[in-house]
Amino acid sequence: MSLSLLGISGSLTKGGSTRAVIDAVLLAAKTRTPDISTDVLDLRDVTLSFCDGRPLHEYPDDTPTAVARIHAADAYIIGTPIYRGSYTGSLKNLLDHVPVEAMMGKVAGLIVNGATDHHYLSIDQELRPLLMWFNLHLVPGSVHVRGNQMQGTTIVDEQVQEHVRLLGEAVVDLGQRLTGSLQGPPPLSLWGRRRA
Ligand SMILES: Cc1cc2nc3c(=O)[nH]c(=O)nc-3n(C[C@H](O)[C@H](O)[C@H](O)COP(=O)(O)O)c2cc1C
Repeated sequence: MSLSLLGISGSLTKGGSTRAVIDAVLLAAKTRTPDISTDVLDLRDVTLSFCDGRPLHEYPDDTPTAVARIHAADAYIIGTPIYRGSYTGSLKNLLDHVPVEAMMGKVAGLIVNGATDHHYLSIDQELRPLLMWFNLHLVPGSVHVRGNQMQGTTIVDEQVQEHVRLLGEAVVDLGQRLTGSLQGPPPLSLWGRRRA
Protein backbone atom coordinates (compact mmCIF):
# COMPACT_ATOMS: atom_id res chain seq x y z
CA MET A 1 0.00 0.00 0.00
CA SER A 2 1.36 3.44 -0.93
CA LEU A 3 0.61 5.66 2.02
CA SER A 4 -0.23 9.35 1.68
CA LEU A 5 1.18 11.14 4.69
CA LEU A 6 -0.02 14.66 5.49
CA GLY A 7 1.82 17.02 7.81
CA ILE A 8 -0.44 19.47 9.61
CA SER A 9 1.28 22.52 11.03
CA GLY A 10 -0.65 24.42 13.70
CA SER A 11 1.55 27.52 13.74
CA LEU A 12 0.67 30.82 12.09
CA THR A 13 4.08 32.37 12.77
CA LYS A 14 6.10 33.57 9.77
CA GLY A 15 9.52 31.93 9.87
CA GLY A 16 8.37 29.67 12.71
CA SER A 17 10.09 26.38 13.45
CA THR A 18 7.18 23.92 13.81
CA ARG A 19 6.95 23.46 10.05
CA ALA A 20 10.65 22.61 9.88
CA VAL A 21 10.25 19.82 12.43
CA ILE A 22 7.27 18.44 10.51
CA ASP A 23 9.33 18.50 7.30
CA ALA A 24 12.12 16.61 9.07
CA VAL A 25 9.71 13.90 10.26
CA LEU A 26 8.21 13.60 6.76
CA LEU A 27 11.71 13.22 5.34
CA ALA A 28 12.47 10.46 7.85
CA ALA A 29 9.24 8.71 6.84
CA LYS A 30 10.09 9.01 3.14
CA THR A 31 13.60 7.75 3.76
CA ARG A 32 12.13 4.69 5.47
CA THR A 33 9.60 4.01 2.70
CA PRO A 34 10.32 5.97 -0.49
CA ASP A 35 7.03 5.15 -2.23
CA ILE A 36 4.87 7.10 0.25
CA SER A 37 3.59 10.52 -0.83
CA THR A 38 3.97 13.49 1.49
CA ASP A 39 2.33 16.90 1.68
CA VAL A 40 1.88 19.60 4.31
CA LEU A 41 -1.22 21.52 5.31
CA ASP A 42 0.44 24.60 6.79
CA LEU A 43 -2.01 26.94 8.49
CA ARG A 44 0.12 29.90 7.35
CA ASP A 45 -0.80 29.09 3.75
CA VAL A 46 -4.58 28.82 4.06
CA THR A 47 -7.41 31.06 5.18
CA LEU A 48 -9.82 29.30 7.49
CA SER A 49 -13.04 30.57 8.99
CA PHE A 50 -13.80 30.17 12.65
CA CYS A 51 -15.96 27.10 12.95
CA ASP A 52 -19.58 28.00 13.62
CA GLY A 53 -21.18 24.64 12.86
CA ARG A 54 -22.52 25.39 9.37
CA PRO A 55 -22.01 22.77 6.59
CA LEU A 56 -18.45 22.83 5.28
CA HIS A 57 -19.36 23.79 1.72
CA GLU A 58 -20.87 27.06 2.97
CA TYR A 59 -17.52 28.47 4.11
CA PRO A 60 -16.27 30.91 1.48
CA ASP A 61 -12.50 30.43 1.97
CA ASP A 62 -10.01 27.54 2.10
CA THR A 63 -11.88 25.73 4.88
CA PRO A 64 -13.57 23.05 2.68
CA THR A 65 -10.39 22.25 0.72
CA ALA A 66 -8.28 22.08 3.88
CA VAL A 67 -10.69 19.55 5.36
CA ALA A 68 -10.79 17.64 2.05
CA ARG A 69 -7.01 17.31 2.15
CA ILE A 70 -7.24 15.85 5.65
CA HIS A 71 -9.96 13.46 4.51
CA ALA A 72 -7.86 12.29 1.55
CA ALA A 73 -4.72 11.48 3.55
CA ASP A 74 -3.99 8.06 5.07
CA ALA A 75 -1.82 9.21 7.97
CA TYR A 76 -0.68 12.42 9.65
CA ILE A 77 2.20 14.18 11.31
CA ILE A 78 0.52 16.81 13.46
CA GLY A 79 2.74 19.54 14.87
CA THR A 80 1.93 22.53 17.03
CA PRO A 81 3.70 25.17 19.05
CA ILE A 82 2.77 25.19 22.72
CA TYR A 83 0.56 28.18 23.49
CA ARG A 84 -0.48 28.75 27.11
CA GLY A 85 0.42 25.20 28.06
CA SER A 86 -1.60 23.65 25.23
CA TYR A 87 -1.83 23.34 21.44
CA THR A 88 -2.69 26.44 19.43
CA GLY A 89 -6.18 27.80 19.02
CA SER A 90 -5.57 27.74 15.26
CA LEU A 91 -5.09 23.98 15.31
CA LYS A 92 -8.17 23.54 17.48
CA ASN A 93 -10.22 25.61 15.05
CA LEU A 94 -9.04 23.46 12.13
CA LEU A 95 -9.94 20.29 14.01
CA ASP A 96 -13.33 21.72 14.95
CA HIS A 97 -14.08 21.69 11.22
CA VAL A 98 -12.97 18.08 10.66
CA PRO A 99 -15.70 15.42 10.75
CA VAL A 100 -14.80 12.34 12.74
CA GLU A 101 -14.96 10.15 9.61
CA ALA A 102 -12.10 12.08 7.99
CA MET A 103 -9.46 10.74 10.36
CA MET A 104 -11.11 7.74 12.00
CA GLY A 105 -8.93 4.61 12.04
CA LYS A 106 -5.92 6.41 10.55
CA VAL A 107 -2.48 6.82 12.10
CA ALA A 108 -0.90 10.01 13.45
CA GLY A 109 2.40 11.05 14.98
CA LEU A 110 2.65 14.14 17.16
CA ILE A 111 5.11 17.00 17.52
CA VAL A 112 5.05 19.85 20.03
CA ASN A 113 7.37 22.79 19.97
CA GLY A 114 7.76 25.00 23.04
CA ALA A 115 10.03 27.66 24.42
CA THR A 116 11.04 25.49 27.38
CA ASP A 117 10.40 22.02 28.80
CA HIS A 118 7.82 23.34 31.27
CA HIS A 119 4.84 22.20 29.22
CA TYR A 120 6.30 18.92 28.02
CA LEU A 121 3.20 17.01 29.14
CA SER A 122 0.91 19.16 27.03
CA ILE A 123 1.35 16.66 24.22
CA ASP A 124 -0.13 13.86 26.31
CA GLN A 125 -2.53 15.83 28.46
CA GLU A 126 -3.90 18.19 25.82
CA LEU A 127 -3.22 17.17 22.23
CA ARG A 128 -3.50 13.40 22.54
CA PRO A 129 -6.97 13.41 24.21
CA LEU A 130 -8.30 15.81 21.57
CA LEU A 131 -7.10 13.54 18.79
CA MET A 132 -8.34 10.38 20.49
CA TRP A 133 -11.85 11.68 19.92
CA PHE A 134 -11.26 10.97 16.22
CA ASN A 135 -10.37 7.34 16.98
CA LEU A 136 -6.96 7.85 15.42
CA HIS A 137 -4.17 5.37 16.11
CA LEU A 138 -1.68 7.67 17.83
CA VAL A 139 1.96 6.62 17.83
CA PRO A 140 2.92 6.40 21.53
CA GLY A 141 6.27 8.18 21.23
CA SER A 142 6.27 11.81 20.13
CA VAL A 143 8.68 14.62 19.38
CA HIS A 144 9.05 17.48 21.82
CA VAL A 145 11.32 20.31 20.69
CA ARG A 146 12.30 23.36 22.68
CA GLY A 147 13.70 26.60 21.34
CA ASN A 148 17.36 26.00 22.12
CA GLN A 149 17.31 22.66 20.30
CA MET A 150 16.75 24.52 17.03
CA GLN A 151 18.87 27.05 15.17
CA GLY A 152 16.43 28.77 12.85
CA THR A 153 14.82 25.92 10.99
CA THR A 154 17.58 23.40 11.72
CA ILE A 155 17.30 20.84 14.52
CA VAL A 156 20.68 20.91 16.26
CA ASP A 157 19.96 18.56 19.15
CA GLU A 158 20.99 14.97 18.44
CA GLN A 159 18.35 13.43 20.68
CA VAL A 160 15.60 15.39 18.93
CA GLN A 161 17.03 14.32 15.56
CA GLU A 162 16.78 10.72 16.75
CA HIS A 163 13.20 11.23 17.98
CA VAL A 164 12.34 12.75 14.59
CA ARG A 165 13.71 9.69 12.82
CA LEU A 166 11.88 7.30 15.12
CA LEU A 167 8.57 9.12 14.74
CA GLY A 168 8.79 9.22 10.94
CA GLU A 169 9.56 5.52 10.79
CA ALA A 170 6.89 4.58 13.33
CA VAL A 171 4.14 6.49 11.53
CA VAL A 172 4.94 4.82 8.23
CA ASP A 173 5.24 1.36 9.75
CA LEU A 174 2.07 1.68 11.78
CA GLY A 175 0.26 3.42 8.93
CA GLN A 176 0.94 0.57 6.56
CA ARG A 177 -0.16 -1.92 9.19
CA LEU A 178 -3.22 -0.23 10.68
CA THR A 179 -4.72 2.45 8.46
CA GLY A 180 -8.39 1.80 7.93
CA SER A 181 -8.77 -0.48 10.94
CA LEU A 182 -10.80 0.58 13.93
CA GLN A 183 -9.94 -0.10 17.52
CA GLY A 184 -11.72 0.85 20.69
CA PRO A 185 -15.23 2.14 21.14
CA PRO A 186 -16.74 4.17 18.31
CA PRO A 187 -17.06 7.89 18.96
CA LEU A 188 -20.32 9.12 20.42
CA SER A 189 -21.48 10.66 17.14
CA LEU A 190 -21.54 7.19 15.57
CA TRP A 191 -23.49 5.72 18.43
CA GLY A 192 -26.06 8.45 17.94
CA ARG A 193 -26.24 7.76 14.22
CA ARG A 194 -26.82 4.05 14.74
CA ARG A 195 -29.68 4.72 17.08
CA ALA A 196 -31.23 7.20 14.65
C1 LIG B 1 0.94 33.23 22.42
C2 LIG B 1 2.09 32.33 22.76
C3 LIG B 1 2.00 31.50 23.85
C4 LIG B 1 3.06 30.63 24.18
N1 LIG B 1 2.93 29.82 25.27
C5 LIG B 1 3.95 28.96 25.56
C6 LIG B 1 3.81 28.04 26.64
O1 LIG B 1 2.83 28.04 27.38
N2 LIG B 1 4.83 27.17 26.89
C7 LIG B 1 5.95 27.14 26.11
O2 LIG B 1 6.84 26.33 26.34
N3 LIG B 1 6.10 28.00 25.05
C8 LIG B 1 5.13 28.90 24.77
N4 LIG B 1 5.26 29.76 23.71
C9 LIG B 1 6.46 29.68 22.88
C10 LIG B 1 6.24 28.87 21.59
O3 LIG B 1 5.64 27.62 21.85
C11 LIG B 1 7.60 28.60 20.91
O4 LIG B 1 8.22 29.84 20.63
C12 LIG B 1 7.47 27.78 19.65
O5 LIG B 1 8.76 27.40 19.25
C13 LIG B 1 6.78 28.55 18.51
O6 LIG B 1 6.69 27.71 17.37
P1 LIG B 1 6.65 28.36 15.90
O7 LIG B 1 8.00 29.01 15.71
O8 LIG B 1 6.45 27.26 14.94
O9 LIG B 1 5.51 29.32 15.89
C14 LIG B 1 4.23 30.64 23.38
C15 LIG B 1 4.31 31.49 22.27
C16 LIG B 1 3.26 32.32 21.97
C17 LIG B 1 3.38 33.23 20.75
